[in-house]
Amino acid sequence: MRQILLTAALFLMASCSSPDTEDGPVVTIDFDEDEVTTTPDVPEEPVEEAVLGPLPKFVGSPVLADLNPRPNIVEVKLEARPQMVQLADGFELEMFTFNGSIPGPLLEATVGDTVIVHFSNHLPQPTTIHWHGLRIPDDMDGNPRIQNPVKPGESFTYKFVVPDAGTFWYHPHVRTFDQIERGLYGTLVVHERPEERPRHDRERYFVLDDILLDGDQLARPFTSQMELMHGRQGNALLTNGTMEMVTGSATAGERERWRFVNTANARTMEVTITGARFVVYGTDGGRVEPFEPNSLLLPVGQRYDVEVIYDEPGEVKLQQLVLVRNAAGNVVTEAFDVATIDVTEAPAGQEPTAVEWAPAPALPDRTVDREETIVLDAVQGGELGIQWRINGEAHAMEPLFEFEHGETVNMTIRNMLGPEHPFHLHGQFFSVKGKPGLWDTVLVGGQQTVEITAYMDNPGEWMMHCHIAEHAEVGMMSHFMVGASH
Ligand code: C2O
Ligand code: CU
Repeated sequence: MRQILLTAALFLMASCSSPDTEDGPVVTIDFDEDEVTTTPDVPEEPVEEAVLGPLPKFVGSPVLADLNPRPNIVEVKLEARPQMVQLADGFELEMFTFNGSIPGPLLEATVGDTVIVHFSNHLPQPTTIHWHGLRIPDDMDGNPRIQNPVKPGESFTYKFVVPDAGTFWYHPHVRTFDQIERGLYGTLVVHERPEERPRHDRERYFVLDDILLDGDQLARPFTSQMELMHGRQGNALLTNGTMEMVTGSATAGERERWRFVNTANARTMEVTITGARFVVYGTDGGRVEPFEPNSLLLPVGQRYDVEVIYDEPGEVKLQQLVLVRNAAGNVVTEAFDVATIDVTEAPAGQEPTAVEWAPAPALPDRTVDREETIVLDAVQGGELGIQWRINGEAHAMEPLFEFEHGETVNMTIRNMLGPEHPFHLHGQFFSVKGKPGLWDTVLVGGQQTVEITAYMDNPGEWMMHCHIAEHAEVGMMSHFMVGASH
């Protein structure tokens, strides 16, 4: 048995002020290391194999069955419903789920496919589905300003073409702070075209989340100053929907593709892998020039796509590096194992896997058409005593900007206060000064300024907000237009 202590006071280090909550609640959760949860191997679909070439062997969560035999069309059913879910051995909780599981099943498609999602809402509250990171038409984006939320008992069909290969995710955009916390999220992977698809021995997806438990129930939302200041920092880590260790096996010489998504309400995650090499090949917006980091920092909403190389037999661990308060009261980084892969000796004569990746496209080289500044701050007021703001407005009703379709916009994002903000644009990609790759979410640290260059290539009305669900809920939510209005 091992105990995980995550204190709610973790993130106060960098923060401005939150006087009476320095020693926020500490909750103890028992983990049983001996009990393991094995994720099922999901068989490939013969139809797709014949038409498209093999899809990767995937390990990590259920996969949505493609109900449409035609190539280039992925047609699936998603149902949001409450369900008892086993989060740890002997610990079940009624959560909100897509199709009964946390994370919701993987939706996989190939770039250029048409995706049709028959969605039905069996929750006791309205909802929508937002396809985080997909550059699709705005009326399919799950934006409740455009799409009427789907009422309990009702359905909606989402239909769009997936334009970019990469790792994405889906989640509601109504009462997000509550619905995501209760488990409504899933991964969405858009595979490269078969001729550009690297051939790994298998793929694993790691969906990183945390939940805030009060005893054996989810804590009620917005009951602490801490939660209003920093968003809801959980006290239990959920990896692929379980508080138990995720396990798997592989053979020395193999190579796998791992995709990470941070679906937490607020916690910035940091992960590292021990016992194997890992190389980053992709970010939010798809492929990137490969690089070998020591660890990966994932603010809420972001993704990484990495290759894991098993040179030697042994135990490979995926660790989360978490700031915790130790017995002496100091905040220290502690590594928690969240997954282990048992790597066995390669059978005699087995060649190590060679993987070929198509070259990463260069970042767009475009002249900047426009400079804008975005200021993130908070004021006292509102129902809960604090309002988070974007350019002086909480829950802006009018679009903050109107961009031309195709414009390249430099945005200087200034965070005036201590708490950090993972800032997210819908419908567009951007590059971040000093970072490789394309992104749709960027972390703006406490009292930091970040510069991004956004490519306004997808016309429509789009949301821009902090992805800390509690910040967005109390005001840090705005929107912008690209091209002509509706
Ligand atoms: Cu994950 Cu409004 O987004
Ligand atoms: Cu924020």
